[in-house]
Amino acid sequence: MSGLSTQTPFHPLEKKALSILLKHKTMELGDLAKESGESIDQVRRVTEWLRTKGYVAVETKSRVLLAAGPEGAFVARSGLPETRLARAVHSRGSAVPLESLARELQMQRSAFNAAVGRARGLGWIEIRKSDAGLLAVPLSVPAPLPAEDLLRKLAESPVDSSLLSSEEKALVGLLSKRPGYIIEREEKVVGVRLVKRPDAAQLEAGEEVVLTSSILQRVASGEVKLSTLDVSSPVPIRMIGKEHPMATFLRSVRETLLSMGFEEVDGPLVQSSFWTFDALFTPQDHPAREMQDTYYLENVKSSVTDQALVDRIKQVHENGWNLGSRGWRYKWSLEEAERSVLRTHTTAITIRYLADHSSELAKVFSLGKVFRNENLDATHLNEFNQIEGIVVEKDGSLRRLMGYLSAFLKGLGFKKVMFQPSYFPYTEPSMEPQVYSEKLGKWLELGGSGVFRPEVTLPMGVKNPVMAWGFGLERLALLYFDANDIRELYSNRLSWVREVPQCP
Ligand code: PHE
Repeated sequence: MSGLSTQTPFHPLEKKALSILLKHKTMELGDLAKESGESIDQVRRVTEWLRTKGYVAVETKSRVLLAAGPEGAFVARSGLPETRLARAVHSRGSAVPLESLARELQMQRSAFNAAVGRARGLGWIEIRKSDAGLLAVPLSVPAPLPAEDLLRKLAESPVDSSLLSSEEKALVGLLSKRPGYIIEREEKVVGVRLVKRPDAAQLEAGEEVVLTSSILQRVASGEVKLSTLDVSSPVPIRMIGKEHPMATFLRSVRETLLSMGFEEVDGPLVQSSFWTFDALFTPQDHPAREMQDTYYLENVKSSVTDQALVDRIKQVHENGWNLGSRGWRYKWSLEEAERSVLRTHTTAITIRYLADHSSELAKVFSLGKVFRNENLDATHLNEFNQIEGIVVEKDGSLRRLMGYLSAFLKGLGFKKVMFQPSYFPYTEPSMEPQVYSEKLGKWLELGGSGVFRPEVTLPMGVKNPVMAWGFGLERLALLYFDANDIRELYSNRLSWVREVPQCP
């Protein structure tokens, strides 16, 4: 087995690279790729192996590349203004009125005047006064100028500025002042330098080996040494498919609740007002039900089929539930309750679950889109995701609800959680969970929570306390991804989607 040795073995590609580097000592990665006939990625990988083994040093340098800009390219083809001017005069062979020359050359007045001055200075033309105005008279024949030679060179292919002569550098300094003549671009180059000579025997020995159990046994006994791999070394960026960050976040929300023993329930986006509002003891004249806040569907009736439940909801709204509460004291309308809405909160889903499972204990959540008639800005969307949960327990309480919410939010990585008193028509007491953002240095309000009022639970025949909460997920996602504008989450700007780490 010639591929195995007790010394650090070389991969065939490493040998190839080393034999080239032994000739050049220092070279650019690109040149090493060219000379070895391997791809740049392959060569990068091999240099990385050799670097870990201590044979080469890898240094990134930047260099300035110079190229001809659009004006510069024109000059490379047709000459500088003074050359074009002198050529025009010489081609006439006699004195030319400056006025007609300016027209012929179609130069801007100031550029023309400057060109006349320089062509005179170079001894190519002379200016004479005549009755008909100023005349240009040909003198010596224009010769190519160093600046034109340089621009021709730059127009052919970009040049590393450090390789220019000092005369050329001085010219670049002058030409760069004219717009469009020279374009500068910085480029990073990776250089590889041989820092340790491999011994000849090592370069000769060895060939590729397939790892088998017997080799592994020899590795275990110390007879054979495997080369090490640095898994933290840089690799080329691959533009592979990736889950959208928001989808990743929603998945981690789901997984956190599932890991806490919750079950997911779902329901339609279009709901009756009955399940969205009435079943939640929200009076029919409540501001949240107005068109400015809620999207209604015209001419679509969502019938409520459980007549007995309808009767009890009507009663609790109109007169209360013999609990000392007297209800909202108005005439409840079934027609209003059967108007269809795009659900404004996922509480419509959990309350319906509760009605269908009134005698059971429960620990369920619902995650999905809700819709509100909002203007879009950095912190508002009119369509967003909500996470909603209910827990029905014999000893359910506000204290236990705080425990559930803290565990959930901490499971999502938010370390500091607090609760503030709040109000909702369907919970009593109510509170608003908040998380602390270290980055913003402030508390962020998430939504609502509380213990359902008897006016909600009793008409459904639910005897045990029901703890409930619901909040929007996009604002939380902003914190999670360290983003600033809620609209960014759905703009699908590829650079953002790519740069957000898969596991923040
Ligand atoms: N439905 C409320 C909202 O959308 C949140 C909430 C849910 C409040 C459950 C209390 C109980 O803001």
